[in-house]
Amino acid sequence: MNYKKIGIIFAMKEEARPLLDLLHLKRIESPGPYEIYRGLLKDKEIIIGLNGKCTKNNVDRIGTVPAALNAQHLISSFPLDLIINAGTAGGFKKKSRIGDVYLSTEVIYFHDRRISLPGFQEFAKGGSPSINTEKMAQDLNLKRGQITSGDSFDNNEEDLRVMQDLQTDAKEMEAASIAYVCEQNKVPFLAVKSITDFIDSNDCSKEEFLRNLSHASKRLQDSLLKILESF
Ligand code: ADE
Repeated sequence: MNYKKIGIIFAMKEEARPLLDLLHLKRIESPGPYEIYRGLLKDKEIIIGLNGKCTKNNVDRIGTVPAALNAQHLISSFPLDLIINAGTAGGFKKKSRIGDVYLSTEVIYFHDRRISLPGFQEFAKGGSPSINTEKMAQDLNLKRGQITSGDSFDNNEEDLRVMQDLQTDAKEMEAASIAYVCEQNKVPFLAVKSITDFIDSNDCSKEEFLRNLSHASKRLQDSLLKILESF
């Protein structure tokens, strides 16, 4: 694969910090809330787009809506060969360990969109494609897994049931919407997600998430570097 101009979207600055520190990219002017960094990694141009902060609540703009806006903004501003959505995800104790990094498989679904009108059910489910990651996973010794997205950090029963049906390995809040924007704009897409917490544990996800965020973000950066150097 010969991707020369690569956009990387992160929802949280904390998730992006290890890669930003490593690559020493320059922040460039951008309209709106986005934080955009640009620079070179050998012969590749890397553009990192953070969703930015919500000025009203002073928190990172996580979730599917800011992610889709950020993706459309990046695609409209730069001619990109590939968009990577990098970040953290909730996993399942029986399948993963904290800090495991998953590459997306064939398609990325939403696990919390329910529209039971004729024809809209499939639309709600999403299912926009990822690039083929089979060889990448083998070559770089990374896991591949089903990534699914929703707009809640906690889990209700219906979401859990849908995740079981979809055989979710990594539950997060952006990939399916960015994949959808990429599909609509014909830009290849890859998701890379590092596990911070377990959905099926007694430990409270949010405490586990905060405790493991820095470690999982470092593991994410290690994998991202290997991926970028492999193109
Ligand atoms: N990102 C990291 N952990 C998550 C979880 N449990 N749910 C949604 N997004 C996440």
